Amino acid sequence: MNYSGKRKSQYVKDTFNSIAGKYDFMNSIMSLGLDKRWRKKVVEVCQVRPGMSVVDICCGTGMLTRELAEAVVPSGGVIGIDFSERMLTQAAKNLEGYAHKDRVTFLQGDALDLPFADNSFDGATIGWGLRNLPDASKGVLEMYRVVKPGAMVVSIDMGKTTLPIFKQLYGLYFEKLIPLMGGIWASGRDQYRYLYESASEFYSQKELVQIFQTCGLENCNYLNLALGAVAIVYGQKPKK
Ligand SMILES: C[S@@+](CC[C@H](N)C(=O)[O-])C[C@H]1O[C@@H](n2cnc3c(N)ncnc32)[C@H](O)[C@@H]1O
Repeated sequence: MNYSGKRKSQYVKDTFNSIAGKYDFMNSIMSLGLDKRWRKKVVEVCQVRPGMSVVDICCGTGMLTRELAEAVVPSGGVIGIDFSERMLTQAAKNLEGYAHKDRVTFLQGDALDLPFADNSFDGATIGWGLRNLPDASKGVLEMYRVVKPGAMVVSIDMGKTTLPIFKQLYGLYFEKLIPLMGGIWASGRDQYRYLYESASEFYSQKELVQIFQTCGLENCNYLNLALGAVAIVYGQKPKK
């Protein structure tokens, strides 16, 4: 992929900084309003319960972080971490008036060099983030490192659908229509073209399961959503 002469991480950071204000709106449109339901499923797969301490990597505007907070109340906490200042500014805005804002902390940091000690969290999630990292395996290894033995590591991202007609229609929607809508509503045709290209080049859900296994996670598997166009991939850190 062409990153306009930049390193991938800088290109990704600039991309999300430039679309942060319209990110949530575009997400709802692109997912036909299903993204909230998908995030709730991530929380379920991560087995988040009241009192837990959970980290949400590449938290962006914090929508998954909020769903996690709903599950850890009244005494647990969630840290959302992202390297884009503007996505984090939007995340803080999204917390205004939110009932459980005292359960949420946002931090600026790099998913490939997490500022946390080993075995710190009861679960780790990453929403549409692994695809954006220069090294997805390293991202999974960092998540593995910071969760406690027995905790879940869960990713949700674009998947590879194999259903014949749906695959063609969805490909058309994703390649042509979404960049067009991104251009009109988010002044970001190129940024939404990146979404298509990064998803095309990303691992399939089966390949990602293998990466999770290679990183040392157990009980790894995936769950298709939207006929496989989106997939949750998960694994558990061995209980020693
Ligand atoms: C597609 S957005 C996902 C946001 C959010 N998780 C959601 O569910 O909507 C990807 C996010 O990953 C962040 N990101 C990409 N690479 C990163 C890195 N190396 N470290 C931290 N954040 C990163 C971007 O800034 C962006 O906010």
